[in-house]
Amino acid sequence: MIRQAPKAENLISIQISKVLFLILKTPNEGLATVRCTKVVRNVNLEKLRHNYLFPEIEARELEHLNKYPDANIIRLGIGDTTEPIPDIITSNMAEYARGLSTRKGYKGYGAEQGNKDLRKAIAESFYKDLGVKDAEVFVSDGAQCDISRLQLLLGSSVSVAVQDPNFPAYMDTSVIIGQAGDFLDDTLKYKNIEYMTCGPQNNFFPDLSTTSRTDIIFFCSPNNPTGHAASREQLTQLVDFARKNGSIIVYDSAYSVYITDDSPRSIYEIPGSRECAIEISSFSKIAGFTGVRLGWTVVPDELYYANKVPVINDFDRIVCTCFNGASRIVQAGGLACLSPDGFKAVMAVVDYYMENAKILVDTFTSLGLVVYGGVNAPYVWVHFPGSRSWDMFSEILKKTHIITVPGSGFGPGGEGFIRVTAFGRREHILEASARLTSVHLL
Ligand SMILES: Cc1ncc(COP(=O)(O)O)c(C=O)c1O
Repeated sequence: MIRQAPKAENLISIQISKVLFLILKTPNEGLATVRCTKVVRNVNLEKLRHNYLFPEIEARELEHLNKYPDANIIRLGIGDTTEPIPDIITSNMAEYARGLSTRKGYKGYGAEQGNKDLRKAIAESFYKDLGVKDAEVFVSDGAQCDISRLQLLLGSSVSVAVQDPNFPAYMDTSVIIGQAGDFLDDTLKYKNIEYMTCGPQNNFFPDLSTTSRTDIIFFCSPNNPTGHAASREQLTQLVDFARKNGSIIVYDSAYSVYITDDSPRSIYEIPGSRECAIEISSFSKIAGFTGVRLGWTVVPDELYYANKVPVINDFDRIVCTCFNGASRIVQAGGLACLSPDGFKAVMAVVDYYMENAKILVDTFTSLGLVVYGGVNAPYVWVHFPGSRSWDMFSEILKKTHIITVPGSGFGPGGEGFIRVTAFGRREHILEASARLTSVHLL
């Protein structure tokens, strides 16, 4: 857990010759002396709002357990997978790993951009007939890591738009790289960032007629946290908007395999997108690779900067300089996922989670609540009009011992909602459903 930064009033600095000592007084620990360097903290990290969401949820869970020590808590908060990885995939990784102990099977560094066969398999599996070339696919150690590498590519002077509510990595990396201004306590937003509100009032798609032009637009579909998959019409509007403004869309399709209707699974299904969009994606939620770590980014060779330099050249440079390639063992696992039998096996797990999602949607709907998501994404977004997210989090925890996530933790646009994950074991989902239907929520 991240330790809370000491409060300024608890710091007494004493200059002794050239060495600065800080006497740090914390309420519980008394006095402790720390020896500081002369290095000034990165101002952007200084600006970053302390990420209190999951630590705060943990703290409230602990408090709840203190009150109800026998409570059998069901955790439907953090969006982490719970089902084992199919054996066909782990066997392939194990076999590859064993081969590394043999003269014949040993290999050192791989291509920084990824194993050729895997790049080809990704292009064929996810972008068939969409014109994505193998060489445009960069294999990575996960989408979150690629978001940071893309920020390194873009630098501090670009302007940025994010959906509100949003997956926090876009916003936080924007602050870290220096694209954002200060956090404003009155609006709960960072300065210099365009927040694109996405809620039921606009069918979870921003009103582009009132959205300011930015260089970069982060867009996630199916969306974490709302679970909304943007329609073809919505994505066509987005691509037209980006092309008109000369912007680049960074499209996150980490949950594309959860789409059950005809919503696009990739931004490249939209004509014109190759000239304005980068796509990031991940094996985390496809194959339970959250702890194994594998993802990819597509940078089309038709995407150019204002000065006619292809963006793909710079991304290649970033990957070679700052990454050095995904683990060979993990890439063997990725290839196994994309074999016909491997894909069948991982999709069976995806279907299992989506059955969980249906149970959750039906449960909350039966309580008379309006529920979004859960159809094209493993997240259920429950609306409590007129209530605060944290109040509903507490109410649900108190009455059912179920952990959820307050929607306001994903941005001011999430106020009044809670997110419930379908990445749970069936027996826990059924038990959660039984508990929820047996109580009266506010
Ligand atoms: C929308 C979205 N993008 C990216 C990620 C991170 O993916 P990875 O595990 O590949 O880093 C997550 C993880 O929850 C996510 O929800």
